[in-house]
Amino acid sequence: MKENEEIKRICRAVIERIRPDEEERRRVKAVIDLIITKINKNASEMGIEAHAISVGSTARNTWIRGEADIDIFIMFPAAMSEEYLKEKGLAVAKSISDRYEERYASHPYIHAYFYDAEGKTEHEADLVPCFSVKDASLLKSAVDRTPFHNEYIVKRIPGLEDEVLLLKQFLKSAGIYGSEQRRKGFSGYLCELLILNYSSFVALLKNASQWQYGERIDIEGRGKYKGTGKDPLFVIDPVDPNRNVAAAVSLDSFCRLIDSARDFLACPDASFFSHAKKKEMSRAEFVKRIKERGTEFVMVLFEAPDVVDDILFPQLRKAEASVTNLIERNGFKVYRSDVSVEGNKAFLIFELLVWTLPQVKKHLGPPVTSKYHSEEFKSKYASRPSFRIENGRYVVEVERKYTDVVGLLKNELKSCSLGKQVSEAINKGYDVLRNEEIKFFKGVGYFFRDYFGGI
Ligand code: UTP
Ligand code: MN
Ligand code: MN
Repeated sequence: MKENEEIKRICRAVIERIRPDEEERRRVKAVIDLIITKINKNASEMGIEAHAISVGSTARNTWIRGEADIDIFIMFPAAMSEEYLKEKGLAVAKSISDRYEERYASHPYIHAYFYDAEGKTEHEADLVPCFSVKDASLLKSAVDRTPFHNEYIVKRIPGLEDEVLLLKQFLKSAGIYGSEQRRKGFSGYLCELLILNYSSFVALLKNASQWQYGERIDIEGRGKYKGTGKDPLFVIDPVDPNRNVAAAVSLDSFCRLIDSARDFLACPDASFFSHAKKKEMSRAEFVKRIKERGTEFVMVLFEAPDVVDDILFPQLRKAEASVTNLIERNGFKVYRSDVSVEGNKAFLIFELLVWTLPQVKKHLGPPVTSKYHSEEFKSKYASRPSFRIENGRYVVEVERKYTDVVGLLKNELKSCSLGKQVSEAINKGYDVLRNEEIKFFKGVGYFFRDYFGGI
């Protein structure tokens, strides 16, 4: 009972800190209205049949104080072509601001900067063209579900906004908010659905602390989605029962929420809602740590290709897996690995248990009983002094091509499957650095702080 009072007290204090005040709400709404009016006016002047709507957390009062990101969707009739949508959608979006960036994820959109009417505060907005389809399952482009998500949440979330804010802040603090490939955590929409399902932040935590793999949440009770069998969490999309809203949540993000939920319920504390930036690890500290561990660190460093994180990170993880395979096929042993992008550099990190090997290598031949293959193997190797029978097979000793992992990576990296843009970037040149050679440019110290930091 006392615990519950403590949790309530903490949550109340956090809410006061993260809930936007009236002034901020008014200011954001005014900017949204301004953008929508401008888009609609410019579209009609340009002879484009489209209208703007407000979606995302700023349409649902679920954004965290000071972090308003305005999401505006520009709706086109479903009968139009993809090219029309792209060309005209981006043209209208660009026409309303003189400061913007064109961005591509699975879908092109504009990220623009605006000042409010008084010209005081700068706001950022995502302007996303989409098709106005009849039903979310009839989508023509990847983002056409969003207006349906918005309608669903706008109708049901009033009264529960604070609960959503607590959940978002809790997840941010645990480093698992956001469904981007870099993070593989919980999206804003997923947070809102979880709160609708469990009715409160604390009820969600109590349930999450007992979640099992393959946990299934179906608010409307009509989900057909069976999943891939690999998803740790299924949250059936209420507007498209064939889709899992939690598809981007990785096994480790799922487990981090379970773990943090248990810790918070056992020892409630306001620190679960703050994400004070950790101190950057210095190079000296790094060198000391690796001496203590006795492992070898190898960094493959190259220019980050100019593509969005959502395309880059899956390629980096693919590269990480295929390079790990290359290393282990050559007899070395990887203990742990990771990838990151800091500034304009991308890198793969391998921590190794075995990084040098002796010259000698055992080359296994066929079983002696296999006559045909034996003849072939013998004709090639029988003259060597090391040629022998061992456990029923012919065996010979050969010279190992790579006795050091760095030499292997310098020569064979390009033979790995790396993903299109990563492969192109690596073909332009890369460095293989070990231990104290690893460069501590901006961001690397934070990367290693996280790497060694545990949970
Ligand atoms: P956001 O990522 O901005 O999430 O996407 P949010 O719910 O507003 O949460 P916060 O508070 O900003 O973190 C808003 C909506 O727009 C869609 C998303 O799917 C989401 O429903 N969206 C946004 C896209 O589909 N594509 C985009 O390129 C951008
Ligand atoms: Mn948003
Ligand atoms: Mn956004």
